[in-house]
Amino acid sequence: MDQHAPAADWSAVSKSIASLVEGETDAIAKMATISCELFQAFERFHWVGFYRGVEPQLLKIGPYQGGHGCLVIPFSRGVCGACATQRKTLIVPDVEAFPGHIACAASTRSEIVLPVFQDGELIAVLDIDSDYPDAFDETDAAALEAILQNAFGTQDGG
Ligand code: SME
Repeated sequence: MDQHAPAADWSAVSKSIASLVEGETDAIAKMATISCELFQAFERFHWVGFYRGVEPQLLKIGPYQGGHGCLVIPFSRGVCGACATQRKTLIVPDVEAFPGHIACAASTRSEIVLPVFQDGELIAVLDIDSDYPDAFDETDAAALEAILQNAFGTQDGG
C-alpha cells in the first residue's frame, strides 16, 4: 500500500452506499451513485467508473467520475477486458507492468477492476484508478465486492 493512501474508512462508505441504493432496481442509477460516493470518499481514487457489457465481448463506458474515459474496451484489451474475461477481481499495483493496459490518463499508476454480476450474468466491471503506485489492497477488494453484492446481488458468476 502506498504511503500516500489514508486509512480507508470502508465501514462508513459502505453504509452510506447501502442506504443510498436501497430499494433501487435500475442498474445505471446504482452505478452512478456508487461511482460518485467512492470518488468523493477516497483522495487516492482519481477515476472511478463502470464499463458495461452491452454487447458480447465488448465493454462500453457507463457512469463515471474523473477525467475522460475511453468509450469502448474489447474483452481482449486492458485491465478491464482481462477482468471481464477472467470474471475475477484484478489488482494492478503497477499499470506499466501490465501487458495491454489502456492508459486513459497518463497519470494513472495503479488500478483495481472488479466484475459486476447480476443474476449470475456479467453486466459490467467496476474500474478504479489511482495516480499513486500500489494504491489498492485486499481490504479494498473485499469492501468493494461487498458493496457490489449488496447493490446488485450475489457476486458469483459461476
Ligand atoms: N485502464 C483501463 C482502461 C479504462 S480507464 O483507465 C478509465 C484498462 O486498462 O482497462
